Amino acid sequence: MLNVAVLISGTGSNLRALLEAADDPSFPARVVVVGADREADGLAHADDFGIPSFTVPYTRYATREQWGAELDAQLRVWNPELIVLSGLMRLLPQTLVDAWAPRIINTHPAYLPEFPGAHGVRDALAAGAEQTGASVIIVDNGVDAGPIIAQERVPVLPDDDEHTLHERIKPVERRLLIDVVRRVATGELDLTAQP
Ligand code: GRF
Repeated sequence: MLNVAVLISGTGSNLRALLEAADDPSFPARVVVVGADREADGLAHADDFGIPSFTVPYTRYATREQWGAELDAQLRVWNPELIVLSGLMRLLPQTLVDAWAPRIINTHPAYLPEFPGAHGVRDALAAGAEQTGASVIIVDNGVDAGPIIAQERVPVLPDDDEHTLHERIKPVERRLLIDVVRRVATGELDLTAQP
């Protein structure tokens, strides 16, 4: 059984999908803790499933490194074998990435390396893209630049706005994320073997 920690900043709809998948006894992974960099609405999903959660408010720390040090300390309490960033809108400090890599994965609402960064959906629309996508990557010290371990194209429709497009991308993200977690848990996907 793979022990997973999920870090969020927002509504946590992707987190909820993973919690629902892990609620099935046949799923080979379980979420042991949910962390957030603020009082994220998505923490309610952890409560719904009886999963412990913690908050390390980014704004309470003078530097990213100090925030990261507390985040690292919280994670070590639970000692996850995989950390999933699912809507965490913060870059992790290099010390934390180096301590946990390659056991950190991130979901991104674009077909990387297209449209990296915090506004991938908005950027795809602004570029007039006819298709975008969803990606799951291994987190490295770049911005959405790590090894791509799963991705899938999502069409952009002529009347899309950022919300409608993002809501079409998220179900694909969730499916990819759940499949990646399953494959890591079964050993089918070896994160240490990625380029
Ligand atoms: C997801 O699309 C994630 O990839 C991006 O922010 C969104 C978070 O959505 N970084 P939610 O909080 O899981 O609903």
